Amino acid sequence: MSAAAWIARPSGPLRGLVAVPGDKSVSHRVMLLGAVASEPLEAAGFLRSADCLATRRAVELLGAEVEDLPDGRVRVTPPKALRDPPAPLDFGNSGTGLRLMTGLLAGRRIEAELTGDASLCRRPMERVAAPLRLMGAVLDTTDGRPPVRIGRAGPLQALEYDLSVASAQVKSALLLAGLSAGGRTLVRQPAITRDHTERMLAALGCPVEMGPWGAAVTGPCRPRGGSVVVPGDFSSAAFFIVAGLLAAGDDPLVVSGVGLNPTRTGLLEILRLMGARIEVRNRRETCGEEVADLGVWRSELRGIDVPAELVPLAIDEFPVLFVAAALARGTTRVRGAEELRVKESDRLGVMARALAATGITVAEHPDGLDIEGGVLRGGTVDSAGDHRVAMAFAVAAARAAAPIRILDVANVATSYPGFAADATRLGIGLEAQRQQGAA
Ligand code: S3P
Repeated sequence: MSAAAWIARPSGPLRGLVAVPGDKSVSHRVMLLGAVASEPLEAAGFLRSADCLATRRAVELLGAEVEDLPDGRVRVTPPKALRDPPAPLDFGNSGTGLRLMTGLLAGRRIEAELTGDASLCRRPMERVAAPLRLMGAVLDTTDGRPPVRIGRAGPLQALEYDLSVASAQVKSALLLAGLSAGGRTLVRQPAITRDHTERMLAALGCPVEMGPWGAAVTGPCRPRGGSVVVPGDFSSAAFFIVAGLLAAGDDPLVVSGVGLNPTRTGLLEILRLMGARIEVRNRRETCGEEVADLGVWRSELRGIDVPAELVPLAIDEFPVLFVAAALARGTTRVRGAEELRVKESDRLGVMARALAATGITVAEHPDGLDIEGGVLRGGTVDSAGDHRVAMAFAVAAARAAAPIRILDVANVATSYPGFAADATRLGIGLEAQRQQGAA
């Protein structure tokens, strides 16, 4: 068998402007809320990546109609009621799609099986399933993981619940279940997590309360349709933010149209503590989410102890933050990040091994890493099929001493299908290769 690998080469100064694609989290929510709305929901900027297209396919199997409009927007037309899907719903690599859909379907009186690829079928589901059962949902996991089977349940009861992990996916799954429960479903969070579900529910007319403590929704409630704009994905922008800090020329690299929802931008705060010069320009608001352009100067970064409260606000950005740390002066310490072990890969283990393979001194802890800044030699790294690990090393190569071969990069298409083209345009030297003998 063959799979895709990249050779990423040390590059000269990076220059230019990149407009990152639509936000993955928000795009999933467009499909999910559109499928249960009272009227069609139209969205500009919907991300057509493998993860979001899997959620699109799932809502189609449940009876929604999804159209690509000539102006590039999508329109989701909900059925009167969701139907039993004729086949298992396959979410591929997407934990967000599978977990949020489990919540959405829990009280809809349908039967469905939800599954995904090998990586997704290793990820924990009881964190979602257990509280949903408390609401009256009928569902089984497979030893705590997908596939998940949802059975026809009676009406759900509203729930007051304290999350034990700071997870927006669990919070969102319970709020989506709360749409079909009578009463106030309230979810308290141990730390601030992304709030896109709450914001979109509020924009679509549902009675939502939200704050640093968590969120609540009062059901039953059907979101109204209408039109929304998906902001550019901060998590995709993160790769070019770090690329600019490491290797911009005399002028700043510009990343435009970036969503700056404050529950997503922990990386900016962490990088500024490390000495980064990043300018926020043209702040504007689209559909309740702040958007801006970022000017990123090449900066001398220094190692820091990453403040624990910023970890959930930067949860998807650690692979590229670890690269920034590897090229900073001094040691960077991250703790309180054990959730990274249950992402698309074990991001602590995979990043520790990959950085070590390129000459960086790393100490792995159960809940974090210590990374000593140094010189990144070339070498071969295994992304373990994790899109964000692959993109992080493409950025790292810009400042490496020799080329880096990055294995198993096909899953970059789950979040950023145009990454290689955008990176190449800015001056990052990336060449696709077939990878022989891959599983
Ligand atoms: C997401 C929440 C986060 C994040 C994921 C997207 C979401 O997961 O890692 O990529 O859209 O709600 P957790 O909530 O499990 O931390």
